[in-house]
Parts: sequence; structure tokens; C-alpha cells
Amino acid sequence: MKLTVTESFEQSSRRTADLFESCIRKKPDALLGLATGSSVVPLYRIFSEDCAAGKADFSKCCTINVDEYIGLPNDHPQSFAYFMQTHLFGKTNFSAQNIYLVDGAADPAKEADRFNRYLRAKRIDILLLGIGGNGHIGFNEPGDRFIAPAHTVELSEQTVAANARMFKSADEVPRMAFTIGVRDVVRANKVVLIASGASKADAVGRLFADDCIDPMLPASVIKLCDDAEVIIDEELAEAAGLRS
Ligand code: GLP
Repeated sequence: MKLTVTESFEQSSRRTADLFESCIRKKPDALLGLATGSSVVPLYRIFSEDCAAGKADFSKCCTINVDEYIGLPNDHPQSFAYFMQTHLFGKTNFSAQNIYLVDGAADPAKEADRFNRYLRAKRIDILLLGIGGNGHIGFNEPGDRFIAPAHTVELSEQTVAANARMFKSADEVPRMAFTIGVRDVVRANKVVLIASGASKADAVGRLFADDCIDPMLPASVIKLCDDAEVIIDEELAEAAGLRS
């Protein structure tokens, strides 16, 4: 697991964009694993700018998102599908037929099954992850064990509280979600985790504190990946105790 420390969140986003765009240049039909959240907003803006400038071509890429709320239809403003449309798909040249989105309004068991069939049939070429303040990736929450395949999950109180900022109140945050499993993370050819902000300091600090894979820190599974890179800015590195 490689640590890259940049001068700013903007530079972390640029570095992440470069890794994705380099992957796409080598393999135009690459499968991109994509995330949502404030950590990826500047990155998706860079993708949009690079696409408009003719520096990046997403037309042949396939995408799959790592998670989605259960119970929110894809046109709900707080669904991750809506986020992707607003921040990325609607502003770039991804082809609709190449985009795989979980349907938050579908029957959860059947939808988790469909999600798994897709992930088993393919391998993610480059996987983008954020990290929750409690160390979650996708919606793999801390617990006493890992769950290998994509699955449905009950969100922790900490995650509900953290994501309440996107909703009118915490009561509106769905309590259940779909997520890729740790198997899908470990199988990815390359994993890029981007983080910024003081709320991530504890999780990022724990990630680099030892060589352990700990289900109480789900992000620690990326230590099993042959090619994983964590990209943070100096401010977070300092807050996480990774800079003296
Ligand atoms: C959310 C999502 C994750 C995301 C993480 C960080 O709950 N399930 O996919 O990476 O938490 O979000 P943010 O970037 O907004 O801090």
C-alpha cells in the first residue's frame, strides 16, 4: 500500500485523475469502479474539464459504482445514481449503455444478486474509494468480520450521522444500503483511495499504524491489493500523525 502526500486536496484530485486517465489511455474500455461523496467532487470536475478539453475520452469505459442507498430511486436527489449523473455522467462522454448502477428502489435481495453477477463476470481495472470517518469503504462498515461479495448492509449510526448533512434531517437517511464486498476490492487491478479533511484523520492514521487487516477498519483490506495507493494532502497527513 503506497502513500502519496500532496500539497492540497486539489492536487490529490489531480493525481487521482492522472492515474485514471493513464489507465484509460492504456485500456480505453477499462472497467472503472467509482465512488460518491465530497471526496470525489473535485476529481469529477477535473474529469469533466479534461473531457471537454479533449484530454480524456471516457466513451468506451465501463463503470460500476461501489454503493447505493436502499429505498431511494435513481432520480432521488440524494441517491448515488443522481450524484453520478449530476457530477460526472451528465458532464462527460460516458456512454449510458456502459454505466452499471444499482437500482435503490428494486427488490434488495434480487438487486444484490444482480450486482454480484456483474462483479463476478468482470474485474475492476481501477477502483476509486473514499473512506468514512469510521474507516468504511463503500458501505463495508466496521464489524467483527468481513463480507466477501456485494451485499446489503445496515448502516452504522456513525455513518447515518455523517451522511445526514446531505438530507434535511438524520431521520431521512436510509438505514440500509448496497455495497460491493471486500472480495471485489481485493480483486481490483488497482485501488486508489482519496481522502481529505480532519474527519478522516483517525481512520487514515489507523490504516498506516500497522500491517494488520482488521474488520473494525474495513479500509485495511486494501493492504491485500497488489497495487493500492492512498492519496492525501499534507494537512490530513499531519492530522493523521503521518508527518513529523
Ligand atoms: C459514504 C460512502 C462512501 C464514501 C464515504 C466518504 O458514506 N458510502 O462510498 O467514500 O462515505 O464520503 P465523503 O467523501 O463524503 O466523506
